[in-house]
Amino acid sequence: MENFGFFEDVIALPDPRGQTDYDRLVGLEAYKERLVKETLLLVDPRVLQGWAQKHHRSELNALDYFKARPPLFLLAGDVGTGKTALARSFGNEVAKRSRVQVRLYAMSLNSRGSGAVGEMTRLISAAFRQVQDEVAKSRDQHGQSRRAIILLIDEADALAQSREAAQMHHEDRAGVNALIRGVDEVAAGRLPIAIIMCTNRLAAIDPAVRRRAAAVFEFHRPKRAQRLSVLRDAFLGSGLTESELEAVADATGGTQQRAYGFTYSDLTQRLIPSIVLDAFPEQPITGKRAIEIARSVSPTPPFGEGYSADTIGATNGRQSNSY
Ligand SMILES: Nc1ncnc2c1ncn2[C@@H]1O[C@H](COP(=O)(O)OP(=O)(O)OP(=O)(O)O)[C@@H](O)[C@H]1O
Ligand SMILES: [Mg+2]
Repeated sequence: MENFGFFEDVIALPDPRGQTDYDRLVGLEAYKERLVKETLLLVDPRVLQGWAQKHHRSELNALDYFKARPPLFLLAGDVGTGKTALARSFGNEVAKRSRVQVRLYAMSLNSRGSGAVGEMTRLISAAFRQVQDEVAKSRDQHGQSRRAIILLIDEADALAQSREAAQMHHEDRAGVNALIRGVDEVAAGRLPIAIIMCTNRLAAIDPAVRRRAAAVFEFHRPKRAQRLSVLRDAFLGSGLTESELEAVADATGGTQQRAYGFTYSDLTQRLIPSIVLDAFPEQPITGKRAIEIARSVSPTPPFGEGYSADTIGATNGRQSNSY
């Protein structure tokens, strides 16, 4: 296996698989556009001045606030809703639209180290050092970097969890401090590094980290129209009719028994493959079986909400039909 240092993955973009993943993400258009735009601005901040001249014929004080702004983005929300998929794939679009090399440096805090606080601190400091060195190395004679980096810190709540587990005191904030120091250095240096943190538990992210975020994007389970869109794409050419697809979309929503419907990953990783394998190898896919299977698969419960059979009735205002 290749050695990526402190990272799970280092990927040069564009990468054809990532592009397909990006294109298939449903319901995230606004977040896609925003992340791409922000990263392009990190690569070349002068385009903002160009825009102000063109559209306002002047400099705008508003643009001063982009200087030393931490390029930190928090992707937060329910399981299987596209946080990791978006974080890992939007760089493809950046690479397509800019002339610099784009690289994704991905680390997942959950799967790394012993979870001990010292280990996490070391990992984070080393990761920031490595990406800062990478952009420094790629500067041309005008000081312009020819490389943009997306630094993905996935499962970022592990940092908070480890603090709780170790019963850390207020002053023992080494891991969080390492993260804040890294973010601040990237901001002060105006380095072309977009830092993306993904989490299921926004509340577990340290307030000082949250405060620095340039944006917080919230991710939710798909609504009916979004489920339908995923299903339509998956079964294009299968012969399933629109009304059969709609019935599957209905079956994957919330019910009387449970307030929540399927996550995107419940659709793409469980339901769709189950429908295919049910038919394979002897039969074609039929609407009738697809609907039956959709009714028999249970969606993943929402993260940390402790849903159980007897709490469902109490979830007022969270009506199943809104999903
Ligand atoms: N918005 C979406 N549109 C289409 N498919 C999606 C979307 N979100 C997730 N998926 C599907 O679900 C899979 C898992 O998504 P992803 O790993 O990004 O979830 P996540 O939000 O990071 O979940 P977790 O919190 O559990 O890490 C994706 O590979 C994709 O197939
Ligand atoms: Mg994830």
